[in-house]
Amino acid sequence: MKPAFLLSVNFFASCSLALVCPFSLLKRAGLLNPEDEAAYDRVAANPSSAEDIFLERHYKKSDSANSGGLIGPRSSDGLLDLPLGGGLLNGVLQSLTGPLQDLDIPTPQIIDLKAIPGDDPDHQFQAPGPTDVRGNCPTLNTLANHGYLSRDGITSFAEAANGISIAYGFDYPLSVFLSALGLMAGGDLISGKYSIGGADSRVPNTIGPAGGIDKHGVFEIDGSITRQDTYFGNNANFILQRWEEYVKIADRNGGLFGAQTQAEDRALRYDNSRATNPEFFAGVKWFAVSHAERVFVYEGLTNGTTPNKPDYANIAPFFLNETFPENWYRRGEAFTLASTLAEALDLFLLQPRELGANEGLNNFVPLELDLSSKTVPQLGCFLVENIFDVVPDQVQPTIADNYELFEGFVKGILAPLVTNDGFFNCPTINFVKPGENAARSENGSQSAHGSPINGAYPGIGIIKPDSEPS
Ligand code: HEM
Ligand SMILES: *[C@@H]1O[C@H](CO)[C@@H](O)[C@H](O)[C@H]1NC(C)=O
Ligand SMILES: *[C@@H]1O[C@H](CO)[C@@H](O)[C@H](O)[C@H]1NC(C)=O
Ligand SMILES: *[C@@H]1O[C@H](CO)[C@@H](O)[C@H](O)[C@H]1NC(C)=O
Repeated sequence: MKPAFLLSVNFFASCSLALVCPFSLLKRAGLLNPEDEAAYDRVAANPSSAEDIFLERHYKKSDSANSGGLIGPRSSDGLLDLPLGGGLLNGVLQSLTGPLQDLDIPTPQIIDLKAIPGDDPDHQFQAPGPTDVRGNCPTLNTLANHGYLSRDGITSFAEAANGISIAYGFDYPLSVFLSALGLMAGGDLISGKYSIGGADSRVPNTIGPAGGIDKHGVFEIDGSITRQDTYFGNNANFILQRWEEYVKIADRNGGLFGAQTQAEDRALRYDNSRATNPEFFAGVKWFAVSHAERVFVYEGLTNGTTPNKPDYANIAPFFLNETFPENWYRRGEAFTLASTLAEALDLFLLQPRELGANEGLNNFVPLELDLSSKTVPQLGCFLVENIFDVVPDQVQPTIADNYELFEGFVKGILAPLVTNDGFFNCPTINFVKPGENAARSENGSQSAHGSPINGAYPGIGIIKPDSEPS
C-alpha cells in the first residue's frame, strides 16, 4: 500500500474526531466544494468511510467524466497513468509537471491549401550562416532556411512540431510524434531544445549529453535515402551518388517519387547496407523511420495542388537546395499518424525485407518480429511501446540514466496520441526498459551544413558530397 494512501485515510479519520479540525474550519468558512463537503460529512458520521471515499476518488477514474475528459494511458487497474502530467484534453496536450514542467507544448494548427512560403516576408530563403547547423533531415533544414524553425538550427519540441504542421500540413498528433522523437533522440528533455544537426553548445546538457537528431540509434538509421550509414562516417551530409540513383529509380517509374519508387529505393539501400555495413541494424525503429521518411516524400513534399504528382520539380529542391519549390502549396488536408503507419506498412510489403542486425559481415541475425501481421492500430501501440527498445539494446546514456523522465514524457505526450481516439486503442502501455548491458553509443556525429546546393548557400561555399563507400 502506498504511503500517500495511508496518510490520506488516517488524516480523514483522525480529523473527523478531533475537536479542532481543518476540515470543519474550512467547511464553516464555506471553502469546501460540494464534493469535499459531502465527503467530510460522510467521514464525520462514519470515520471508516474515509477509505471508501479514497477508493472512489482514486481507483475508479476509468470513465472520462471522472478524469475530466483527459485522455492518456491507463495502468492495469484502470487509472490514468500520467506520472509527469500531460495527456490530451479536447485534442490538446496538457503541460507536464515536476522536472518537465518548463517543456513547451505544441499548439494545434489549422491546415488548408496554402502557398508556402508564399510572399510572407518572414519566411523567405536565407542561406545558413557559419554558425547555423543543418543535419540529416532535408525538410527540417528547409524549414530552418525559411525561418519556420530558428534559422540557427537550434529548435525546440514545440517549435519544430508547429513548424512541420504549418509548412507541410501534418496534423497535431503526427507533428507532436515526430518532434517528440527528435527531442528524445538528441535533445535536452528539460528545456525541450534540440539541434537539427549534431551536438551543439547552444543546447543545454542538463541531464546528459544532447547529441542532436543526427545521433545514431534512436531516430537516425541505416539505409537512409541520401545519407550514408553512421558506420561509414558522417551520417548527415547529402550524398550526390545516392540522390542520382534515387532519381534513376523515379525515372523508371514515370518520373514520380511515389510508393513504387520509394519501395525500390528502400530495398536497394537495405540490400546495400546489409552487404557492406558490419553493424547494419534494422529493428523496430528502422522499420518505422525508413518507411515513414519515404512516405513523407510523396505525402509531404508534393505540391498540394497536384497531390498525385510527386515529380522532380517538387521533390528535388528540398534535397538539392533545401528550399521550397517555386510557387509551392502545402497539402490541403492534414496528413495523419494513422495514414503514415498504414502507408509505411504498404511500402514495406511492396518489397519486404527481414528485420534484424548484422553481427559482422555475412552474419545477419534476424529479429523474431513479424510486423507485417500487425494491424495499423496494433502497429501504433507496438511502436510506442518499443520507443526505447532497440533490440539488441542500443540506447543513449541520457535515456538509460534518466529512464523515469523519458517514461513520463512518453506516457504524457506520446501514449495519449494512440489511446482511445476511436482508431488507436492501446489498452495499457508497457515499455521495455533498456537492459543493463545496453550498448551505450556516446558520441553524435558532427553537424554538417546540409546539402551541396548548386550555389544556393554562397555564404558557406559548396560542400563536396561524400563519396559512397564501396
Ligand atoms: C520534427 C520533425 C522531424 C524530425 C525530428 C525529423 C528527423 C529526421 C531524422 C533524424 C532523419 C534521419 C533518418 C535516417 O537516418 O534516415 C530524417 C530523415 C528524413 N526526414 Fe525528417 N524529421 C522530421 C520531420 C520530417 C518531415 C515533416 C518530413 C517531410 C515532410 C521529413 C522527411 C524526411 C526525409 C525525406 C528524410 C530522409 C533523408 C535522406 O536520407 O535523404 N522529416 N528526419
Ligand atoms: C504548384 O502549383 C501551383 C498552382 O497550381 C503552380 O503554379 C506551380 O507551378 C506548382 N509548382 C510546382 C513545383 O509544381
Ligand atoms: C537550386 O538552386 C540553384 C541556384 O539558385 C538553381 O540553379 C537550381 O535550379 C536549383 N535546383 C533546384 C532543383 O531547385
Ligand atoms: C567519443 O568522443 C571522445 C572525445 O572526442 C573520443 O575520445 C571517443 O573515442 C569517442 N567515442 C566513440 C565511441 O567514438
